[in-house]
Amino acid sequence: MLIVRIVGARPQFMQVPLLKNALIEKGIQHHILHTGQHYDPALNEVLHSELGLDDIRDNLNVGSGSHGQTTGKMIAGIEEFLLKKKPDAVLLDGDTNSTLAGAIAASKLQIPVIHVEAGVRDWDSSRPEEINRKLTDHISRLNFAPIPRALTNLQNEGLGARSELTGDLLLDCFLHYKALADFSILKKLNLSSGDYHIATVHREENTIDEPNGRFYEIMRALTKLDKPVIFPVHPRTKPLFKEFVENTQDTHNIHAIEPVSYLEMLGLLQHCDCVLTDSGGLSREAAWSGKRCVMLFLNVWHDLLESESAQMADGDADSILESYYRARPADDKAIIQLFGNGQAAVLTARKIYENFNDR
Ligand code: UD1
Repeated sequence: MLIVRIVGARPQFMQVPLLKNALIEKGIQHHILHTGQHYDPALNEVLHSELGLDDIRDNLNVGSGSHGQTTGKMIAGIEEFLLKKKPDAVLLDGDTNSTLAGAIAASKLQIPVIHVEAGVRDWDSSRPEEINRKLTDHISRLNFAPIPRALTNLQNEGLGARSELTGDLLLDCFLHYKALADFSILKKLNLSSGDYHIATVHREENTIDEPNGRFYEIMRALTKLDKPVIFPVHPRTKPLFKEFVENTQDTHNIHAIEPVSYLEMLGLLQHCDCVLTDSGGLSREAAWSGKRCVMLFLNVWHDLLESESAQMADGDADSILESYYRARPADDKAIIQLFGNGQAAVLTARKIYENFNDR
């Protein structure tokens, strides 16, 4: 059996190696197609070299553009690739434009789609990720849910018969790569344990270029925190941050740096005090690390919020600061159990094998 796996954005790269190995152990061939959605070396090559993904040779290089332009280019490129490769199934992770493009291209060619991290919902259809994940779940032949709530969502949408609970593949990665975390970044940035926070901002809704918009509110809150904030800046956020620095007097405790590698982030996470982020991946990693976390208007991964492993802030600086002071260290053991204890890769590979081994 041959699976083509389509990746394009940062978290999808991290999730490649462990599931790839588990599939190969089951005798399933695995071929990767990179859409080129993320192309900056800081988001791309750094990860590839430390994850051993230098063998990704097929890249559609779609680059930047509007959602329609880039997703359209991806669909055309993926279709051409699938016609050549003729895989038995297409494997997709998460909720990016690359995920949706893969689902559309494969389904039009009647190639079964397998979706990892299915069933997650934030119930906000104005967010591109919600559209991507919902449509992909409904197109997919097999949906793998990372947590029980995601499985319930799939069942409620009539997808129960083709959905299974596997646990969260990102947790497998976290548990595996934590032992390889790169702590040299702490020395490089002159940081001591417990004496700094981490912040990341990249979501479309948080990076709209308005002086009084959410980005400015987030930055205003960060400047008021009691410890230095390490702020790896996503390429889309860079111009906004530059403008903020030019327009604002006091940004001394925000330490803007280039995006860090996965292993560096795992190093930073283990010694930080609090994580303030709009990334679904980083907020889960903060909880699995037993850290305090403020989710920047990211109303998803509701289990983290309900268990008070993370606090959600509204769109203004005061609310972010209130959430920050409310945030308590997460109960990492309970959260790790809820997300499947790191068994997702093995379970997913087994279920794919069981569903396709007659081919
Ligand atoms: C994308 C995903 C998001 C995921 C994130 C992980 C979508 C809609 N969003 O968000 O779900 O959490 O990846 O990091 O798929 N850019 C660069 N260099 C790059 C990549 C992007 O400069 O290498 C800039 C471009 O201006 C681009 C913009 O960032 O137009 C947005 O990139 P895009 O991939 O659409 O969204 P992300 O914010 O990275």
